[in-house]
Amino acid sequence: MRPLIVPSVLSADFSQLGAACVELVDAGADRLQWDVMDGHYVPNLTFGPDVIAACRNKVSCDFEAHIMCDRPEELLPRYVEAGCQWILVHPETLRQPHRTYQRIRELGAHAGVALSPATPVEHITDVLDLVDMVLVMTVSPGFGGQTYLSSMEPKISRVRDLVAASGRAIDIEVDGGVSAATIGGAASAGANVFVSGSSIATADDRAAAITELRKLAADAAT
Ligand code: DX5
Repeated sequence: MRPLIVPSVLSADFSQLGAACVELVDAGADRLQWDVMDGHYVPNLTFGPDVIAACRNKVSCDFEAHIMCDRPEELLPRYVEAGCQWILVHPETLRQPHRTYQRIRELGAHAGVALSPATPVEHITDVLDLVDMVLVMTVSPGFGGQTYLSSMEPKISRVRDLVAASGRAIDIEVDGGVSAATIGGAASAGANVFVSGSSIATADDRAAAITELRKLAADAAT
């Protein structure tokens, strides 16, 4: 599978988010990830649905909303209405995970389960029929610019084996500290979608950085 590179908007220039989205897509981004934080589940506060909606018509690629909020159930429709095709939620924030994954699809979006470093893979074993992506966090959620946790690579492989055994087309995404130095490990462990914030945002040439990340992932996956 062609590796997908998904820049995180968390590392963008907030004073001109729309232009930042256009620049990232022009540089080769496959999707854009919006890190939605509520200051409760994680100690940071970021994007309301209106901010995302304001940027929706600037680019045509898919948007992911990575919801790091307590009780996200009430927020889901607002993010779909804002133009997010992918909704990623953390199971430990949900009262009824099974029903929530169904609801995301009923709203017309793809459902994703995000596993924080200490959240076990067992949270997905019985719901693979309801999800389109599993996100294995390679940092503790809340901030960009953190160090990649290579200790999560065995977990990526366990997810890959579960997905393979299910026979379903489910993406495996990693997020946190992904850069040219770390993407190979995640790809060879089984990931095919790669979120990257600071390594792309700090690159002199973002198009070259995205092309390099995709090549390194493709080479490591074979
Ligand atoms: C962290 C976010 C990540 C983060 C990635 O909670 O979920 O998407 O922005 O940024 P880097 O690539 O800088 O770790």
